[in-house]
Amino acid sequence: MRADVENANIARIYDYYLGGLYNFAIDRERAERIKLMLPSVDLLARGNRDWLRRSVRYLVGEGVRQFIDIASGLPTVGNTHEVAHALDAQARVVYVDNDHSAVVHGEDILATEPLVAMAEVDGRYPDQVWSHPAVRELIDLSQPVGIVLGGLLVFVQDDEDPAGLVAAYRDALAPGSYIAMSHLSADTADEETRGQVDRMVAAYQAGVGANLYVRDKATITSWFDGMELVEPGVTLMADWRPDPGLDVDAQTPSRQLGYGGMARVG
Ligand SMILES: C[S@@+](CC[C@H](N)C(=O)[O-])C[C@H]1O[C@@H](n2cnc3c(N)ncnc32)[C@H](O)[C@@H]1O
Repeated sequence: MRADVENANIARIYDYYLGGLYNFAIDRERAERIKLMLPSVDLLARGNRDWLRRSVRYLVGEGVRQFIDIASGLPTVGNTHEVAHALDAQARVVYVDNDHSAVVHGEDILATEPLVAMAEVDGRYPDQVWSHPAVRELIDLSQPVGIVLGGLLVFVQDDEDPAGLVAAYRDALAPGSYIAMSHLSADTADEETRGQVDRMVAAYQAGVGANLYVRDKATITSWFDGMELVEPGVTLMADWRPDPGLDVDAQTPSRQLGYGGMARVG
């Protein structure tokens, strides 16, 4: 089945915010409508992707050579395999997304990349991730793996037990593995920006039927229980091991809207 280009799609809306090319008129129209609610939403997406790039770079530096990027969206605009391969062309990456369109576009994009694959799996079910053929072929679970949760938990509601989900990933990983996570938040935002975030969440629900959950730092930090947090711990994404002089978000409200963190499995 081909990608659905009649209906707007979260992954392609996100690609549009990142300045990517894999989006259609309907995605751009919905993206602009959401942006009316939170004008800095595109900078939030870019800040999240910058955090992801720094996280992957850090992990390659720590010797990690295999990655599973869960709720990845499209494998474009400086995503995990591009960062990893710039440092080691032999790194293996599986992108997991439950959106069929994202997977179909992704497979086209990755057609010439033997060490990178897309897996159409719902990331709320780790057993389905481990048993997917692409994961079985490219990822050796007896060796350290970097799990990137740069977009998953924001879609997981409290009664689906996000803490238990992260623990299930943790418990299947070899020592020396890592889980990197980012999450939408508004703890430190001013009142006006908090209102914009609420309206942005409502616009996502109206525009693409997605429920997004905003969480606080303590909750997000608690999901790393049983692992060793990498310094500087859970911080605003822009403050997590920033590249000196490259804080493009410094003046925007979006800088307050997401936490990032990473922990090592002992
Ligand atoms: C914001 S986008 C991608 C963000 C990207 N990971 C990053 O950090 O730059 C979020 C993606 O999560 C995917 N997604 C949402 N719920 C999911 C689930 N339960 N399992 C897998 N993917 C999911 C959506 O289809 C979408 O492509």
